[in-house]
Amino acid sequence: MKFSVTKTSSSKLTDINFETLKFGDTFADHMFEVRYKNGAWGDGAILPYGPIKLDPAFSVLHYGQAVFEGMKAFRYKGNKVNIFRLDMHYKRFIRSCDRMNIAHVPQEMFVESIKQLVDVDRGWVPADKYKSLYLRPFIFASDEFLGVRVAMNYRYMVITGPVGNYYSEGIKPTKLTTYPQYVRAVKGGTGEAKVPGNYAATMQPNALAAKEGYAQVLWLDAFEHKYIEEVGTSNIFFKIGDELITPPLEGTILPGITRDSVIWLAKKWGMHVVERKISIDEVFEASKAGDLQEIFATGTAAVISPVGYIHHDGKAIDLKQDKMGELSQKLYDTLTGIHHGDVEDPDDWCTLI
Ligand code: COI
Repeated sequence: MKFSVTKTSSSKLTDINFETLKFGDTFADHMFEVRYKNGAWGDGAILPYGPIKLDPAFSVLHYGQAVFEGMKAFRYKGNKVNIFRLDMHYKRFIRSCDRMNIAHVPQEMFVESIKQLVDVDRGWVPADKYKSLYLRPFIFASDEFLGVRVAMNYRYMVITGPVGNYYSEGIKPTKLTTYPQYVRAVKGGTGEAKVPGNYAATMQPNALAAKEGYAQVLWLDAFEHKYIEEVGTSNIFFKIGDELITPPLEGTILPGITRDSVIWLAKKWGMHVVERKISIDEVFEASKAGDLQEIFATGTAAVISPVGYIHHDGKAIDLKQDKMGELSQKLYDTLTGIHHGDVEDPDDWCTLI
């Protein structure tokens, strides 16, 4: 499967300062687009990055039938490029599409759209070890129709952009807060799918958190408001005694690919890793007893992001750490090592182009 390529006549590459990259505000020169109509996919194309024309009646603008993925490409041993866990991202993309009843992008089309686009823009993959080219495949309903129904037309696109750290704190510990009055997801809902609505529903609580000085909300379960779920843009882990604990995948939290990689690595290192329900009270009790050693969030954008402070119900845990803990650092170094080829690929996680 070879896509047509129309190259930009005005590359922005030389205007970019790779030293000062943030997350999500810089886009590479090209994008991929393909349309689904009458039950079939058309011809995909790599085009200059730019605005797209949308009909104001497009169903996605009204009912939000859309799915996205977040993945990364890294500079690998000099001049190769590594796309991390491409197959697993495809599987999650398809599961999310199923939950939204969106037409499947065939695996070859997904894989080739990403490989060929990254290849065209390989000059945009930062050389720096702690930076990457963020890849954003997404699909949305494009019926010109206001009735509520499963759409018959879709657009699948990929955009990319070089990124630095997700949090402005860099890899310094962040501060989180719970808001038991809000919930992110309920069982049977869309919490485990990567869909825009999950993020839209967090905007108001996130704005409140930012106003109160927190980086993110630590979400609790929607039923009892006591079990920890995730951070919204990342999954979460607690090192308590000799256990590494993370909430289980029971339908309300995103099955993170960094989460999966961390569990895999920690188990390989002989650690006792447990996917189980963990209440906010248990974390406070472990902290009081001196058993809470590290808290960190994991995600494609966030990689390994230490958490130093959690506010809940007028009380706080303050780990008084101004840098990553020992385990978080080891995981961060190993993962970034695998990304860039300094640590051997443990289990076919790297797609090299
Ligand atoms: C990612 O980690 O890739 C995500 O999708 C988080 C994003 C919403 C910033």
